[in-house]
Amino acid sequence: CRVRHYKFNVVMRNTTRLCSTKPIVTVNGRFPGPTVYAREDDTVLVKVVNHVKHNISIHWHGIRQLRTGWADGPAYITQCPIQPGQSFVYNFTITGQRGTLLWHAHILWLRATVYGAIVILPKLGVPYPFPTPNREVVVVLGEWWKSDVEAVINEATKSGLAPNVSDAHTINGHPGPISNCLSQGGFNLPVEPGKTYLLRIINAALNEELFFKIAGHQLTVVEVDATYVKPFKSDTILIAPGQTTNALLTADLGTGRYMVAASPFVDSPVPVDNMTATATLDYSGTLSTTTTRLTTPPPKNATPVATTFTNSLRSLNSNQFPAKVPLTVDHNLLFTIGLGVNPCSTCVNGSRLVGDINNVTFVMPKISLLQAHFFKISNVFTDDFPGNPIIAYNYTGTQPTNLRTMKGTRLYRLAYNSTVQLVLQDTGMIAPENHPIHLHGFNFFVVGRGLGNFNPKTDPMNFNLVDPVERNTVGVPSGGWTAIRFKADNPGVWFMHCHLEVHTTWGLKMAFVVDNGEGPNETLLPPPRDLPKC
Ligand code: C2O
Repeated sequence: CRVRHYKFNVVMRNTTRLCSTKPIVTVNGRFPGPTVYAREDDTVLVKVVNHVKHNISIHWHGIRQLRTGWADGPAYITQCPIQPGQSFVYNFTITGQRGTLLWHAHILWLRATVYGAIVILPKLGVPYPFPTPNREVVVVLGEWWKSDVEAVINEATKSGLAPNVSDAHTINGHPGPISNCLSQGGFNLPVEPGKTYLLRIINAALNEELFFKIAGHQLTVVEVDATYVKPFKSDTILIAPGQTTNALLTADLGTGRYMVAASPFVDSPVPVDNMTATATLDYSGTLSTTTTRLTTPPPKNATPVATTFTNSLRSLNSNQFPAKVPLTVDHNLLFTIGLGVNPCSTCVNGSRLVGDINNVTFVMPKISLLQAHFFKISNVFTDDFPGNPIIAYNYTGTQPTNLRTMKGTRLYRLAYNSTVQLVLQDTGMIAPENHPIHLHGFNFFVVGRGLGNFNPKTDPMNFNLVDPVERNTVGVPSGGWTAIRFKADNPGVWFMHCHLEVHTTWGLKMAFVVDNGEGPNETLLPPPRDLPKC
């Protein structure tokens, strides 16, 4: 294995989309940012230098960070942010992972423009467990606001209302032909007849789960969140923010130009429509003559399409890549996740929208939780996060009377190597919403999923403990539940939150603290010397 060095200069850059120009925060002046390439077992060193006036931190979404939580990146969770003029070297080893992941800013809403792909190739000489593609292509989906994104969320925080939705979705940074600003470019994927392409699809959008589709072509899904799955064919992919999907595409039509589309799964909460992003797939030599064959993405709220896709995901579970599902459970947890309303005298309606897990709206600390944990600094957090809902819930599809939540910086403590079963129940407090929940520091197995209220007696009998999909971000269905299992084999402090950034902002987040084990390789490593100070 090798050591790979990267330098990320965080700089402002004027960028034009949708016929207007604004300065955005970028890495190395690029949008989307540079791809980080590595192989399984490599060590990656990324020196991040902050040349802008915002504090910054970068998260390596899905990288396990075994014992190296200091390099995980969420601001005030594992590190203080990198202040203007300062730098920090993220130093981590990629252990037992290969596939596609993403990196993104993990402070405020800066990840709107600060994101890029992580491509982890198998160890040298180890083939993919699927036919070797002729070419590999990164496809990063995102969102674009014409206005300043920080202003959008600051305005919402002041008013207590929901922020404006983005003006368009993007594919590799571009809204594409549909935007009527075509001179500003769109992504084109040139293909040759008969060749096979591995698309490394990433959803880096702030607030939208997306459908991804290519006119006339089927995709074969082979990997999600850097874990191999049993290959299956689909013409549409559902992908939530923070998730990645590797799919094989065979250029089997021979000629023509085809539309690639990324459109929202869930209808936006405010009556504004943000644009479907488009790109093109082009067979060589036909550029000027053909018209683009269009595709119709599934309509919004196309739950059957989403469910069919989700239910098709299974771990590969081969001899080489067995699904190591925990078969016993030490911590049996049930977390309600939802949105509520708390009083706010300065807000527009006298109240503010909040997010919660088990009725707790998470309050960010002033120094990082990991430092507080490692140096035993008191009064930063408590470890009394409730393992079950404090207020009884009963999802009926109508709004309950008590929408209030309590505030707290509360963590849930896990012993090293203990096993966790966690049922995530959407309570639909204000309106049922899909929530893509991301857990830092671990992969988990998605053992069950259902609509309505989770039944602790009957539902576990149908759990898949054989080949459930393994991932780091999972959608909790609107008005339903998702059950996951993982083993707490990574000491440190690990953030868990909704990857819809607006919900994270509202407090739909918490963290686990995992204690050290007894063995020499079972402890959190000491902090790097250049760890930023608050
Ligand atoms: Cu990709 Cu805590 O996030």
